[in-house]
Amino acid sequence: MKKLTELMNRYPQFQMLDIGTGVGNFIMTVQQLTDDYQKIVGIDYSERMIELARKNFAEDKRIEFTLMDVNDSMFDDETFDIVSLSNSLHHLSDIKKTLEEMRRLVKPEGVILIHEMISDGLNDKQISHKLLHHFSAEIDRELGMIHNDTYKRDEIIQIINEHSNLSIDSFWPVIPETLESATDEEVEGILQLVDRLVSRAKSSDKFDHFLSKAEDIKKYILEHGYEGCTQMIYVLKK
Ligand SMILES: C[S@@+](CC[C@H](N)C(=O)[O-])C[C@H]1O[C@@H](n2cnc3c(N)ncnc32)[C@H](O)[C@@H]1O
Repeated sequence: MKKLTELMNRYPQFQMLDIGTGVGNFIMTVQQLTDDYQKIVGIDYSERMIELARKNFAEDKRIEFTLMDVNDSMFDDETFDIVSLSNSLHHLSDIKKTLEEMRRLVKPEGVILIHEMISDGLNDKQISHKLLHHFSAEIDRELGMIHNDTYKRDEIIQIINEHSNLSIDSFWPVIPETLESATDEEVEGILQLVDRLVSRAKSSDKFDHFLSKAEDIKKYILEHGYEGCTQMIYVLKK
């Protein structure tokens, strides 16, 4: 997290836009690293997410949330010092359009941050997280939602190069202060989550496929344990 803090410190009193903010997880990370911001705006096209995010940050008037599709954004050109996209790249319907929009919204000297969990170079415990994530993504797709599998670290570089004319300034894996394996109790909770995921697909023709896949995933998790996937930060500039 030291590198990210150093980067934020280059933009005192920054204005930031967090795209696909969900409940504001990435904004929470930023808040833990610095208090030197003027304004942070989180946008998401899910009403439910915006409602939850507003509750999470009710006490900080410098942070606001807007219900908005990034591909239909209302902000002026070059408004923000930092434009971030956290764990949302694999949720986008039109990556090129969104990267173009991020480029439009960032100030000339500003930065774009792509924070994304990756699917390669993982240890056995982290593979449990990947299996769970890809299972959840497959069910979402079956239900008509946009949710791709996560990318390999080099695939993200290829995507950025192929779909934007942004330059990649630097990238690094985010190392949390404590990288802890899930406790037995947490593993039990994760197994229950697998069951809840499969139940979402009960009206699908592929339900039996999901049921048997869920059993395989639970077996893997019990055998190997569970740890979060590695996350990467990519710093992009105009
Ligand atoms: C996996 S969540 C990531 C949430 C959060 N950024 C985080 O790091 O935990 C992906 C989010 O992107 C949002 N999203 C996907 N496409 C979007 C779009 N075109 N405009 C706005 N939000 C979008 C989804 O609604 C979802 O909340």
